[in-house]
Amino acid sequence: MTQENNRMAEIPATEPARQKYFMKLVREQVAALSQKKGRPLTCFISTFGCQMNARDSEKLLGILLEAGFVQGTDEHSDFVLYNTCTVRENANLKVYGRLGYLNGVKRKNPDMLIALCGCMMQEPEVVERIRKSYRHVDIIFGTHNIFRLAELIYRRLEERKMVVDIWEGTDAIVEELPIERKYPFKSGVNIMFGCNNFCSYCIVPYVRGRERSRNPEDILSEIKNLVSDGVVEVMLLGQNVNSYGKTLKEPISFARLLQRVEQIDGLERIRFMTSHPKDLSDELIQVMASSKKICTHLHLPLQSGSSRILKLMNRRYTKEQYLELVDRLRAAVPDISLTTDIIVGFPGETEEDFEETLDVVRRVRYDSAFTFIYSKRTGTPAAAMENQVPEAVVKERFDRLLKEVQDIAAQVVKRHEGTIQPVLVEETDTHEPGFLTGRLSGNTVVHFRGEPSLIGKIVPVSLDEAKGFYFMGSLVNTD
Ligand code: SAH
Ligand code: SF4
Ligand code: F3S
Repeated sequence: MTQENNRMAEIPATEPARQKYFMKLVREQVAALSQKKGRPLTCFISTFGCQMNARDSEKLLGILLEAGFVQGTDEHSDFVLYNTCTVRENANLKVYGRLGYLNGVKRKNPDMLIALCGCMMQEPEVVERIRKSYRHVDIIFGTHNIFRLAELIYRRLEERKMVVDIWEGTDAIVEELPIERKYPFKSGVNIMFGCNNFCSYCIVPYVRGRERSRNPEDILSEIKNLVSDGVVEVMLLGQNVNSYGKTLKEPISFARLLQRVEQIDGLERIRFMTSHPKDLSDELIQVMASSKKICTHLHLPLQSGSSRILKLMNRRYTKEQYLELVDRLRAAVPDISLTTDIIVGFPGETEEDFEETLDVVRRVRYDSAFTFIYSKRTGTPAAAMENQVPEAVVKERFDRLLKEVQDIAAQVVKRHEGTIQPVLVEETDTHEPGFLTGRLSGNTVVHFRGEPSLIGKIVPVSLDEAKGFYFMGSLVNTD
């Protein structure tokens, strides 16, 4: 047997043992290269898109550090990875722009490795375009196999040509690989992957695959470990957390999972994202109302206020059902902060439909709202619909909506002005030296003067002045 064959025979067949094996091999390759260069090899991940991608990037960074890279600060690093998003076209365009720029960077550092992963890579035409026009890319992988990064780097260094590994889907959820968190005191926790809803405008189900829930025991033990490592706030992540657990061998509801998470000692705050209005149960509302740890915030994407458009969007609720749900939530959790996502310019949207959206915005009075211009995603049912709304009309509606959302948010956020609230201190303020930035339970941002040693702690802050979406406050002395 040759040495290479020996090596192949040693490769563990099951995960995570297999990846641990490859992390060790890459560590040797990185050490050799680093000795040649007389300096450590740096890595840098740029993340586009949602919380799901942010969490994936923490896993990817965990693998890279385990494989011997040190964290770099920018794209002038030895290993650069773009974790991409394709939910709207502009997310896509940004990546092509950055890749063009990286071509020049790589010319100055030919040993540099460029890798692409994430939702955009699940689209065959994207991968085709990169293979043809961006030959300086070294590794391409998708959303289903991020746990394999070390193996792919090993292959790239051995084979010395572009490595492409995209899976169409997966049933596997690989646990117990290293993770490097961005914040020591808070963390996202995946509770499920994929989406089965097929909203007619949305590409996510095609690029993230079918819905898969993690076992509650795995989730709970991950959170317990996080808490013993200093985490006080978790954000449970899924495209539709309200349908968590339905397909498990022993089904469990999301509300029940929350109750079990609540019992973890040392955990102070629980958030979750995203809640689909169609699956939000009364059981969940009750659990939220009686909980001491679940934050008084709910992100409840509306998308459109017109029942006609909602039907075309395949959202499976009406304007009336949405408003009625908001009433039930407010009755149970009176001070709840509601936030939302709204799409303007879905195919066929008329002025009347848009007025319905404004009407919901005025009735619900959101603490904040993400507003998006409809973006046509090839392969989704909405892309083939007639009556795409002219750009100028969409732009005009978008501006009107934004103004309404901002005016209302400024009034709504002001309701807490003058009160003292617990704030989780997150970081030093990037604009004002000597200031810190933190968040209320309702998710509103507060800036106040304080020592960086408070970062990660929950402290009482007096909310002195509301400034639109955020507060200027002052620390309340408790001794
Ligand atoms: N699972 C979440 C949403 C994930 S995508 C949910 O169901 O709410 C985040 C947001 O992007 C969506 O809420 C929607 O408002 C927006 N979005 C998705 N596809 C879009 C498209 N084709 N054009 C514009 N916005 C879109
Ligand atoms: Fe997209 Fe709808 Fe799934 Fe959200 S629920 S990810 S909007 S298909
Ligand atoms: Fe984008 Fe993928 Fe999230 S398409 S919004 S990164 S699931």
